[in-house]
Amino acid sequence: ADGTVEIPVVLNVIYNTSPQNISDARIAEQIAILNTDYGATNSDINKIPSEFKPAAAGDVKIRFKLVATNRKQSSKTGWKIDLDEMKKSSTGGIDTTNPTKNMNVWIVNSILDENGVPGILGYATSPESVGLWYDGLVIGCQYFGKTGASAPFNLGRTVTHEVGHYLNLPHIWGPSDAGCLTDYSNDTPDSPGPNYGTPTYPLYKTCGGVSRSQMFMNYMDYVDDKMMFMFSANQKTRMQAVVAAAGPRAGLR
Ligand code: ARG
Ligand code: ZN
Ligand code: CA
Repeated sequence: ADGTVEIPVVLNVIYNTSPQNISDARIAEQIAILNTDYGATNSDINKIPSEFKPAAAGDVKIRFKLVATNRKQSSKTGWKIDLDEMKKSSTGGIDTTNPTKNMNVWIVNSILDENGVPGILGYATSPESVGLWYDGLVIGCQYFGKTGASAPFNLGRTVTHEVGHYLNLPHIWGPSDAGCLTDYSNDTPDSPGPNYGTPTYPLYKTCGGVSRSQMFMNYMDYVDDKMMFMFSANQKTRMQAVVAAAGPRAGLR
């Protein structure tokens, strides 16, 4: 009635060792984090600097509901980002469940880059991939949920960030690593590239000869989990457009 859309979530857990078989309790923890972050009821929301308060999204009016959990043991110790083998049973993974209707999430023990090097926290498809077999999120199990997760990425915000991509948000520096490109949200200041760790506010960086205070506390930057706690109002508008009745992901409604 208030326009809130609840997205059904299917979790596909592929583990090698049993500690990597993320518990139902930890899955519930991650879903709860998504709901507080997307509802702007996260306990750290009061840390938004006054400069950025007018740009804060508030309640994004998107929520998440777990509808199924699938589990599979695998001898694989790592999964390459460019292959998406975790998304098909024929390549040792778990097949997607109706990706038009559900947000599919694959949890794997380790995500490797194109060269086979570990260290990627997660990745996601944009709405351009709606309904395809590989549509959804992939998350390294160490960065999923809270209890037992790896600091400084143990507040569930890797999933908050990847869901942002799934709902059409680029990084705040724009769609390519070149940086200083538009992210199609005028209320996130132009940024030359990622911030890491625990930056101190205010942090000024320059694009096109103009120095701007960086919104590094945005979920679509790369800072540590405890340093990110907001979406902007324009980011909310973009995400709402994706799940709107005429939007590319209307099937999730
Ligand atoms: N896509 C990013 C990566 O591959 C995820 C960044 C998540 N950041 C975080 N603080 N949890 O690593
Ligand atoms: Zn990202
Ligand atoms: Ca912007």
